[in-house]
Formats: sequence, structure tokens, C-alpha cells
Amino acid sequence: MSWLVTGGAGYIGAHVVTAMRSVGQDVVVLDDLSTGDTSRLPGVEVVVGSVLDPGLVRQALAAHDVQGIVHIAAKKQVAESVERPLYYYEQNVEGLRVLLDAATATGVESLVFSSSAAVYGSPDVDLVDEDTPCAPVNPYGTTKLVGERMIADVAAATGLRYANLRYFNVAGAGSPELADRGASNLVPMVFERLARRERPHIFGSDYDTADGTCIRDFVHVADIASAHVTAASALAEGATTALTANIGRGEGVSVQEMVQTIRRVTGTADLAWAEPAVSPRRAGDPARVVASAQRIERELGWRAQWGVEDMVRSAWEGWVHRDPSLRGIAS
Ligand SMILES: NC(=O)c1ccc[n+]([C@@H]2O[C@H](COP(=O)([O-])OP(=O)(O)OC[C@H]3O[C@@H](n4cnc5c(N)ncnc54)[C@H](O)[C@@H]3O)[C@@H](O)[C@H]2O)c1
Repeated sequence: MSWLVTGGAGYIGAHVVTAMRSVGQDVVVLDDLSTGDTSRLPGVEVVVGSVLDPGLVRQALAAHDVQGIVHIAAKKQVAESVERPLYYYEQNVEGLRVLLDAATATGVESLVFSSSAAVYGSPDVDLVDEDTPCAPVNPYGTTKLVGERMIADVAAATGLRYANLRYFNVAGAGSPELADRGASNLVPMVFERLARRERPHIFGSDYDTADGTCIRDFVHVADIASAHVTAASALAEGATTALTANIGRGEGVSVQEMVQTIRRVTGTADLAWAEPAVSPRRAGDPARVVASAQRIERELGWRAQWGVEDMVRSAWEGWVHRDPSLRGIAS
């Protein structure tokens, strides 16, 4: 039996593929390489194309005797989703519909789906659990919620087993070559500023939190990958059939704390030019979004292993691997 990993050439996907292969799982990747890169996947078979192509998807499933799918491929930029909502519905919702159609036609038994904390929108609770009402505040979050609902409906009709994994703020790298190459999340955004010898930005310092900056739940990408391995094997064994679970550490870290950790790790803690500059709040940024990660621990025995320092250090090693001149950033 093999697993098809869509989006396996991307940041999270390559970590998932590596982790699944390390436990002996046979994996084939389907990726249109719109943001992915096959150099992350030495020795892995990659079918190049879109999940929107029904013939290609069906052929990939049948040719590799695929019993399970990890569906990671998606567009993920919140601001872009606000500007181009229909593109996000096409890629994330229609892409999943095409995949589910092919999966049910070829007898795929299990599906792990990359969902997101964005399904909750701006939750007004201390810890977000899976029963917290879903109220996405942008098209990206809506596409993930629609995806979860579509999967549950198909599962009810066909017996497909599924796990919707709602990732919180993903950071870090399992190895330098697999590091995130985009700069749309806090850690790479701060790296990008420091790499240019510019002050990092903190958006808003007047939130109702201990240090006035937003609080988030950062989770190491290696932990995200291990959650997929755990979920995929539980689905394959039939130990779980319909799971929707948060993937986080259950611990809040403020943006200010994160920036100070980054400065420490990069050796820029004492440098005046690396002092963060406070900019106005960004629209739609909730003060606090922290997971309760108890459901997945209770149901599958999974919990995050890595801390914030590990995330920042491993991510920075990825940046230095790409640009060795960054080693001298503090000099
Ligand atoms: N990075 C995060 O913090 C985060 C948080 C929550 C959820 N997620 C979800 O995790 C998934 C992966 O995110 P990432 O950070 O690795 O992003 P990424 O852009 O690095 O990876 C996405 C991958 O999917 C591929 N892809 C995109 N559209 C495709 C299509 N139509 N057909 C085939 N392949 C396609 C891309 O080429 C890329 O390899 C996404 O579903 C995203 O919504 C990410």
C-alpha cells in the first residue's frame, strides 16, 4: 500500500514525506511545483501536475495502488486570498473536490487533510479547542473549513476514514535544506529584516496581553510531520475513523518573546539596529490564539516535542545554509 502526498514538494509537505519514508512508508508525491521544489525530495517519485487535473490524479492513484492520501497542496497566503477569493476557492476547494472524486472512484480508504487554525477566525477564548465555534475571517480560512465539511460529507456517504489536522503557527526546519523559503510567517519575516540589517517589525504593542503584543501557539514543523505519521497509521489500522484535531503545543508565546528569541539565536540581541520597531496593528490580527492540543493526545497519543528555541535555531540554520554570509550578521 502506498500513500499519495499532494503538495509534498513544499515546506510542510517535504517534512511529512521525509517522516513517512523514515518509518518505511511507500510514498508518491503529486505537486504542481507552484511553490514547491523537488530538490527537497531526493529519491522520491514526484508526479508533476495539479490536483485540479482529474485524469492525472486518477491515474496517479491507480498506478501506485494508493490506499491513503495526505492532502497538503493548497494556496495559503491570507492577504492574497482576500484579493483573489475565487482563485482560493478554485485551488483549495475545487482541488479537494477533484481529489475526493478520484479517491472514491479508485477505492482510497484514508485521507489526512492540512487544515488550519484559520478556521477559528478570532476566537475569544483562552485555549481554542475543537469545539470552539469556527468563524473564519478571510477566504483562506473559509476554504479550509469548507474542505473539512466536504470531507465529512464524503466520508458519511462512502466510509472514507479521515483526519483533519488544524495546524497552528508552524516554524522551524527538520534539516537546513527543508527550511521554509517564503517569508509570510513571523520567524522568516524577522529573519528577512535582520538579513537586510533592518529593524524587525512588531505589529501592535497595545493588545490586552502581558507585554502588549499578540500571542500565538508556535509548533515545530518536525512535530507537524510526526502528527501526520501518527494520524496516517491510525487511519490505516482503523484505530481512528473521523478525527478533527488541533496541532499545536498548547502554550502561548508573544510576538515580543519570539522576536527576542530570534535576536538571541542570530546573535543580534545587543545590536541597536536590530531593536524591533513597533508598527500599527494589522487588521484582523486577534490578540491571542493558542491551541488546546488535548484531543490528539487523548485519541492518538501524539504531543509536540520541540520548543521555541529549537524552532528558531533550526529555521536560522536553514537561512544560513542558503546564504552563508548571514553567519557574520552580528559582526
Ligand atoms: N505554513 C503554515 O504555517 C501553515 C499553517 C496552517 C496550515 N497550513 C497548510 O499547510 C499546507 C502546506 O503549507 P506550506 O507552508 O508547506 O506551503 P507551501 O506553499 O510550501 O506548500 C504547498 C505545496 O503545494 C503545492 N501546490 C499548491 N497548489 C497545488 C495544486 N493545485 N496542485 C498540486 N500541488 C499544489 C505547491 O507547489 C507546494 O509544494 C497548506 O495546505 C497550508 O494551507 C500551513
